[in-house]
Amino acid sequence: MKDSNTPAERRDRLTADGDKPWGGRFDTAMDKKAETFLASLPFDQRLAQEDVQGSIAHCRMLVKQGVLSVDEGDKILDGLAEISTELAEGIFPFDTAFEDIHMNVEKRLVEKIGMVGGKLHTGRSRNDQVALDLHLYVKKEIRETDVLLKRLQQVLLELAKEHMGVIIPGYTHLQRAQPVLFSHHLLAYYWMLHRDRERFLDAYGRTDMMPLGSGALSGSSFPLDREETARLLKFAALYENSMDAVSDRDFVVEYLGCASLLMMHLSRFCEELILWTSQEFSFVELGDAFTTGSSMMPQKKNPDIPELVRGKTGRVYGNLLALLTMLKGLPLSYNKDMQEDKEPLFDTVDTIKKILELFPPMLQSMELKSDNLQRVVGQDFSTVTELADFLAAGGVPFRDAHGIVGRLVRFTLDKGKLPSELTRTELANFHPLLDSEKTTQLLLPKNAVASHRTRGGTAPSAVKEQLNRAHRLARRLDKRAAKIFSEALDE
Ligand code: ARG
Repeated sequence: MKDSNTPAERRDRLTADGDKPWGGRFDTAMDKKAETFLASLPFDQRLAQEDVQGSIAHCRMLVKQGVLSVDEGDKILDGLAEISTELAEGIFPFDTAFEDIHMNVEKRLVEKIGMVGGKLHTGRSRNDQVALDLHLYVKKEIRETDVLLKRLQQVLLELAKEHMGVIIPGYTHLQRAQPVLFSHHLLAYYWMLHRDRERFLDAYGRTDMMPLGSGALSGSSFPLDREETARLLKFAALYENSMDAVSDRDFVVEYLGCASLLMMHLSRFCEELILWTSQEFSFVELGDAFTTGSSMMPQKKNPDIPELVRGKTGRVYGNLLALLTMLKGLPLSYNKDMQEDKEPLFDTVDTIKKILELFPPMLQSMELKSDNLQRVVGQDFSTVTELADFLAAGGVPFRDAHGIVGRLVRFTLDKGKLPSELTRTELANFHPLLDSEKTTQLLLPKNAVASHRTRGGTAPSAVKEQLNRAHRLARRLDKRAAKIFSEALDE
């Protein structure tokens, strides 16, 4: 294959026989297994449209700077437009002999428009090119994640409003602690997702930086206008150091970090759904469309979706750890190790998107077992703290009040009763202040809940206020997102 050695003949082989674009200094063809091992095409073809988008901007900038003639630029742009269409229609002829998506697009361009296609790569390296593609991709994904997060939050708000009157046991140590509004419990997840949205938006700011024009690592001798490329691609800022630009994958780590926290939140929620749907709790039932049966036990209705979300959380953490570990020993600047950034990223994107799409309808399918909830909240000791607070409000030091109520609990347990079944005389035996009509009222879950009126507390009045704040802060975050996503080059 290598017997014709003039530069022109070598160059022609690029399209003639699948030779490598970098084949110039090599004499022997590459080992097939090595080629397969090194190829990223099977997974990085997902960056195809970003690659074309980046090339279009690079080409326009080269024309503007007089590096390419207008005619050359037009040919390249037409070729790239055709490639974009082929990709969109799923008819682009991918070829693994050309290692990655960048070389595939370039090869296709040369096939289409001839050797002038080879001019596109002027002043560019795959190192700054792959970085650019990833930036464009992560930006797009953060924008899409934001929409999905908002949708899930909206469903939580709707459910919180719909079930406003429902009281459930609140837990610490998974022991019944104090009754709370079901809405209050749901809204706790709303705020976690609020922080997730904020976090992804913060990460967006650091993703919105343009690496192109850094060349392989040291910049370029061509008169590239990096601001122009950034403007065309709607980046807010430029990397100020070419070595940093081609080596940086912080933004991918951040995306995976944000995704890991999100998954942790969803996994905790799922754990609760799994508990709540168990016969032991029987708080809620998930719709048939979002549960599965057992192939052996006909009575089963399994919360498979929450379980799988909980299970997939480990895989998203694993992706984050894989990337951090891959990066930790790398000398500057680009190293082939960095090709390993893509699969963890893509896998995470797929995982969180599928989950965020499923979560809202799954939650909407949930039915509350109201009768059971009413029964369980009336049947425990979780309102006795109200008695201690009542004594403390009457001047008894809280420590003493706690002791008094503790003895009362012991007495009630020994009698095999519930606190709500104690007579006024029995209560009065523990402290004269308890000899009041009010004390039995205090023990009712409804009253206990209603009295926790502090800002952020579970009283209906406080939860309504919480809902208002949720709407207000969401609007503020929407505005911030719109501003950040509007993508103006900030000079
Ligand atoms: N496929 C490579 C990656 O994903 C593209 C950059 C390769 N650059 C290089 N000089 N080998 O990282």
